[in-house]
Amino acid sequence: MATQTWLLLGCCIFFISAEAATLQNKVTDNPADQLVAALNSNRTAHKSSTLYSNPGLACVALQYVKAYQGDCDEVGGPNAKKPAEGEFAETFAPNCGVEVKTLGPITGRLLGCETKYVKPDEAFSGILMKNSKSLEILYSKNHTEVGAAVSGSDGGSPYFWCVLFSNGTSNSSFVLEGGVAKISRPGCFSGANDQCNGANALFKIPILVSVAVGALIFSLSSLGV
Ligand SMILES: *[C@@H]1O[C@H](CO)[C@@H](O)[C@H](O)[C@H]1NC(C)=O
Ligand SMILES: *[C@@H]1O[C@H](CO)[C@@H](O)[C@H](O)[C@H]1NC(C)=O
Ligand SMILES: *[C@@H]1O[C@H](CO)[C@@H](O)[C@H](O)[C@H]1NC(C)=O
Ligand SMILES: *[C@@H]1O[C@H](CO)[C@@H](O)[C@H](O)[C@H]1NC(C)=O
Repeated sequence: MATQTWLLLGCCIFFISAEAATLQNKVTDNPADQLVAALNSNRTAHKSSTLYSNPGLACVALQYVKAYQGDCDEVGGPNAKKPAEGEFAETFAPNCGVEVKTLGPITGRLLGCETKYVKPDEAFSGILMKNSKSLEILYSKNHTEVGAAVSGSDGGSPYFWCVLFSNGTSNSSFVLEGGVAKISRPGCFSGANDQCNGANALFKIPILVSVAVGALIFSLSSLGV
């Protein structure tokens, strides 16, 4: 067979296996789920309980960071701001399809913002665990559930990482209307079993995808198709 045919075949196999890998990684291919996994394994190692990963709470965490409208300076330091308490019922819950009457108490939050994207475990230890206060929040016995979110502003830098903790009951707090979370992009949140990889959900230019498509078009045209 001609070299081009082999190339095309190889290309097809690559795409098919990439697709299969994507399906297999459905649950874990999401930086917010990976952040919850890192957090829970750290809690377990510290003999704290594993927290329930609540998708409604996590979606609220994504709305919470979106309220900063990409302004990193408002996250920490002298200009630090916090969304108003009323926003939870007025904006965050409706945007997520969370039944307002099921909003539970927030027992802790961890929030960080960086211009550079890092892996979830690095975001956990390097961005969110800044000081002893963060450790105290992490290991608190008050929490029963957790929700995490990561969002780029307008699909690019800076990147916001947010973890909200609650002491609500897993099946009766942050309940989603119809049982499904409203997926909103850009940004990823935990607990919803949705795939949310960096390339299509967080970054403006999906470089890998365009290179792959470019390569396919190139190999097709070199075959004279
Ligand atoms: C848990 O996280 C803290 C903060 O990053 C770190 O100091 C500690 O070593 C971690 N513990 C484990 C068991 O990974
Ligand atoms: C746990 O909750 C109690 C009562 O709401 C509060 O006084 C305490 O500071 C909380 N502990 C932590 C580590 O947040
Ligand atoms: C949950 O936390 C809130 C605020 O810290 C507290 O007032 C409430 O008593 C807690 N509820 C339970 C069930 O622990
Ligand atoms: C919620 O969970 C509790 C304890 O696991 C259970 O007793 C209760 O029936 C559940 N409620 C619903 C509405 O599923």
